[in-house]
Amino acid sequence: MIIEKKAAIEAQMSGSDFLTLADLNEEKLLFLLEEALDLKKKQKKGIPHQALKGKTLAMVFEKSSTRTRMSFEVGMLQLGGHAIFLSSKDIQLGRGESMADTARVMSRYVDGIMIRTFAHESVEELAKHAEVPIINGLTDLHHPAQVLADLMTIVEQKGQLKGLKLCFIGDGNNNMTHSLLEGAALTGMDIAVASPSGYEPNAQILKHAQMIAEEKQSIVSFTDNPEDAIKGADVVVTDVWASMGHEEEQAKRLDSFKPYQVTSELCQHAQDDHLFLHCLPAHRGEEVTSDVIDGKHSFVFDEAENRLHAQKALLKVLMKD
Ligand code: CP
Ligand code: NVA
Repeated sequence: MIIEKKAAIEAQMSGSDFLTLADLNEEKLLFLLEEALDLKKKQKKGIPHQALKGKTLAMVFEKSSTRTRMSFEVGMLQLGGHAIFLSSKDIQLGRGESMADTARVMSRYVDGIMIRTFAHESVEELAKHAEVPIINGLTDLHHPAQVLADLMTIVEQKGQLKGLKLCFIGDGNNNMTHSLLEGAALTGMDIAVASPSGYEPNAQILKHAQMIAEEKQSIVSFTDNPEDAIKGADVVVTDVWASMGHEEEQAKRLDSFKPYQVTSELCQHAQDDHLFLHCLPAHRGEEVTSDVIDGKHSFVFDEAENRLHAQKALLKVLMKD
């Protein structure tokens, strides 16, 4: 991307929120991926890049996390800044203080807030009242930071996004599916989702992704047949059958989801050189068999590493003066 163009996008994105991928356009998304690849290269070569020296990120967690917590915290440190981990149990939010007041107060102390919570509306409420950028670290509806890392991993392995086919097999009504629908549509990838009846993607998000895909001349499709979805796929993705907040449905879901397990037999319908991705944590023997997730097509640990690089790009672009 040419330097003037980069500077213009950077200026547009500085200070903005990152709640869903659909908040971006293709240009901004590709810019973030380019930045992420560059920051990864610099880090591997030991070249320091302290764009956020003196800046602080608050990280509010209402759900558990390994990757999101660690990658945002390490990312801030590597950029010369600082991160504060705040479990909602330990702060007044957990005792009923409103999102609005939490946003107003935190904005007086920090330069950005990352939050992992349940209802997507809570992040929107935080963003409405905050004076600093709000980053979605996962809600029930979206997981955009993860999909940034997924797209980066695909670019690294395939050298392109546009023209590839990605399939998602499993719970269509979860945060990963929704952010993948938006990410694929924006970048001109075909995406096919296969889920059992009752677990279809959010109708509004699916429709919006189909609208974007129409402009890009790519295909966004939904089916209940995993073989149809995976046919010819360049990238195969799955996620847990019961996301955080749905643990009590785990047993009930096992039956409905069993035909949607990603096995090496199912993957024979994908391209010979397909990638397998999973945001992790994974349940081996449920949504994916061990031979797939631990096999030669799997790039799940590159994907996990790329959370760090993709989010450094995001933090740098949103929080730099
Ligand atoms: N993929 C992901 O978000 O992992 P964590 O729940 O460990 O943050
Ligand atoms: N869909 C999963 C993603 C975990 C990173 C969940 O919400 O639990």
